[in-house]
Formats: sequence, structure tokens, C-alpha cells
Amino acid sequence: TWTMVNIVEEQVDRIRGQIGDKQVICALSGGVDSAVAGALVQRAVGEQLTCVFVDHGLLRKGEAEQVEKDYVNITGAKLKVVDAQAQFLDALAGVSDPEEKRKIIGREFIRVFEQAAREVVAESGDGDSEVEFLVQGTLYPDVVESGGGTGTANIKSHHNVGGLPEDLQFTLVEPLRELFKDEVRKVGEELGLPSEMVWRQPFPGPGLGIRIIGEVTRERLEILRDADAIAREELSRAGLDRDIWQCPVVLLADVRSVGVQGDGRTYGHPVVLRPVSSEDAMTADWSRVPYDVLAQISNRITNEVREINRVTLDVTSKPPGTIEWE
Ligand code: XMP
Repeated sequence: TWTMVNIVEEQVDRIRGQIGDKQVICALSGGVDSAVAGALVQRAVGEQLTCVFVDHGLLRKGEAEQVEKDYVNITGAKLKVVDAQAQFLDALAGVSDPEEKRKIIGREFIRVFEQAAREVVAESGDGDSEVEFLVQGTLYPDVVESGGGTGTANIKSHHNVGGLPEDLQFTLVEPLRELFKDEVRKVGEELGLPSEMVWRQPFPGPGLGIRIIGEVTRERLEILRDADAIAREELSRAGLDRDIWQCPVVLLADVRSVGVQGDGRTYGHPVVLRPVSSEDAMTADWSRVPYDVLAQISNRITNEVREINRVTLDVTSKPPGTIEWE
């Protein structure tokens, strides 16, 4: 539309003015904000941008590929992918405490990103073309919440690289600072990003790591990824994407219950469906998803994901429950 075209043009001009002929880095998370911010900067200064994607192995099915293939194809962005899955799993081994998991994931993310940023800086070579800028997908509500300062985003603390060490000081480029989420999505569409990316549900930075109740292992991640993909597929098929704020699928990895399948006894894990409706995630109500959609999700998960023999529904509002289980 007219206004989105204008917002894009205005931001592209502004970014060009700010960056000049310097180099710039953008950390992609798989989420909407960093994707749109990066795409705007790419449109503005093209070759001067390097995107960095830390694959921590905690994303949902297909999300890493979306960044690595679709995003690169559509935007033409130069992408450095760091496969840090093993590093994150090692660091998380034996850890069940939610806060401990969050701390570990945040710490490893900063470590890996810093290392990648150092490499980009080193590769960018000489004199005038040094990397001086870092893109952040800060939105208007983040700006307001943090008192108008630059680039500190509340709950996204582990993606907030404001605390970089001395030798890695960047000036922030924040092309979404004046926009609300729905406007960011429209800008994303205007820039041709895939709708699964633009309309992605809110997803926590620590990813599936905080949707496995218990220790995070490669096997458990695979189980949860499969179950989550089925729930997302069926909710989309039922046309509920825009009615539901988000629907975490939670794996109760330390719980087992007895079931029966064919003529055999099973002893598998339950998953919890947590569909919620919300305006801003501060409060939420459980979504009244039609029974036949729930039935379809339950049938498919228990049939297609061998380790899961029970599907349950979380009917708690927020408060007192939070949206995520950890
Ligand atoms: P809770 O569970 O607190 O979640 O009701 C509120 C919203 O925030 C998301 N969330 C996070 N987002 N990093 C994020 O970027 C995080 O560490 C994090 N923890 C929760 C959650 O998905 C929901 O949308």
C-alpha cells in the first residue's frame, strides 16, 4: 500500500544516510523483527550488510531452513550461518531448572554471536569499509518501555547485544523504532518476505529449550519439533492463525504415562497444547479451539510421533499461568 511504500522508502534513505559506505552486521533470529530490519538494511546498502544466524538447534521445524534458504533468496542478503547446535546441547546437558536454562542459552548466544561478529569484522578488512554498525529490530513499544534509550529490548534480553565487549562496539541501526508490530508485518510483506515468517507467532528467544520440561536433549527436541509442527499445521488448516496469539506445545519430558496402541502397551510422554488469545502477552486467555480441531491435532500427534501417547489442553488464563511453561 501507499503508506508501506513510503515507510520503506523513508527508512531506506535514512539507513543510507546513517551507514554511508561502512559495513553493517545483523543478527537474524528467525523472528519477524530481525528479518524485516535486516531486509530493510539490505535494500538500503546491499553488499555492505552481513547477516549472522546462530543456529542453536532450538527453533521449530523448518525455521532454520527458512532463514538459510528463503530469506537469502528473497532478500539477496549475505548470510553467515553458525551451526552451534552441539555447543548449546553440551551447555544444556543435565540442566532442568528453567532460569538456569535461560541463562545458559543467553550466555551461549552472546558467545557465539560475538565470535561470529569478530570474524565478520576481520573479514571486512581495511580502512574505510570497517564494520561499524549493528542492526537491531527494536520496535516502538520496546523504545517506550525502555524509556526512549537506544536498543534495549525488555524480555528479549538474550538477543540484546548491548553489552558487547570493548573491541566490539557498534553503533545501532534501528529501522523499526517508530513501528508497531502490525506495521512491521506489513513492511515485511511489502519487502516480499514469506508469510510464514512475517506472520510467525511470538516465539521466545530460548526457543524450544523452555518448552521441554526437564533436560533438553537432541532426541527430545526432535519429538517436540514433530508435535509442534503438527499442531501448527492443523491450526493453520483450520484458519485459526490470526485468532490465536500463539500456541506453545510443551513436552513433559520427565513424565510418562501408560497407554495402549494396537495390542501393545505404551509408556510414553504427554504434550500440552497451550493455545492462547491475547493483545500484548501481558494477559491472556486460553483459546476456545473447536473440539474437532483439537481432536485432529491429538489424533495426528499420537499416531505420528511415536514417543507421545497423550495430548492434553492447558485451560489456564494468564494470570495466574504464564503463556510459556518455563
Ligand atoms: P510468558 O510466558 O511470560 O510470555 O507469559 C509472554 C510472552 O513472551 C514470550 N517470551 C519470550 N520472548 N524471550 C523472548 O523473546 C524470552 O526469553 C521469552 N520468554 C517468554 C512468550 O512466548 C510470550 O509471547
